[in-house]
Amino acid sequence: MAIDPFELFDQWFAEARAREPNDPEAMALATADQDGRPSVRIVLLKGHGPEGFVFYTNQRSRKGEELAQNRSAALLFHWKSLRRQVRIEGSVSIVSCAEADAYFASRSRDSQLGAWASDQSRALDSRATFEQRFEEVKARFDGHDVPRPPTWGGYRVVPQRIEFWTARPHRLHERRLFTLQDGSWSEGLLYP
Ligand SMILES: Cc1cc2nc3c(=O)[nH]c(=O)nc-3n(C[C@H](O)[C@H](O)[C@H](O)COP(=O)(O)O)c2cc1C
Repeated sequence: MAIDPFELFDQWFAEARAREPNDPEAMALATADQDGRPSVRIVLLKGHGPEGFVFYTNQRSRKGEELAQNRSAALLFHWKSLRRQVRIEGSVSIVSCAEADAYFASRSRDSQLGAWASDQSRALDSRATFEQRFEEVKARFDGHDVPRPPTWGGYRVVPQRIEFWTARPHRLHERRLFTLQDGSWSEGLLYP
């Protein structure tokens, strides 16, 4: 194998950051409940490396509840300007409290307050209720640092399979598939 999948991801991600006009960190996250019913949404990549791909969220959200039932997850990046996609599949582990605290502390104060105000994925009677809750949270922490809410944290998707897809002319696309077998990565090509 000429290159490992994490080096290749670093290269592609750097190019996406330089070239994609919007949200190069945006990735679709697919989860499934205990009966295998899937759901998918966009989240932002906040850390990556051989140990996995990290995102942050409310752990009582629908995705958090599904991940508690079924730790398998899949990620998908589509960098349209580059005509590339990366598919990642694996299982999640929870980011340590220290790592989540450090990331939470780096967010803007309004984002920190928003994390307290939002009961993500729960039904709301109106937008006004949410805005009122935000104002209450703002008043509650006035003059103090905003701590990380106990239900807000990170997940790390630990990959077992990573596929890099590049558009080629005449639909002769290129698909490089890396799979983890007995602790080491091997590479193969797939028919497009
Ligand atoms: C560009 C973009 C970035 C987003 N980033 C995040 C994120 O990092 N974390 C998050 O919890 N939700 C993020 N969201 C919102 C999610 O897509 C989703 O609406 C929310 O997390 C609730 O999903 P769930 O009900 O399936 O748990 C983002 C949405 C968009 C469009």
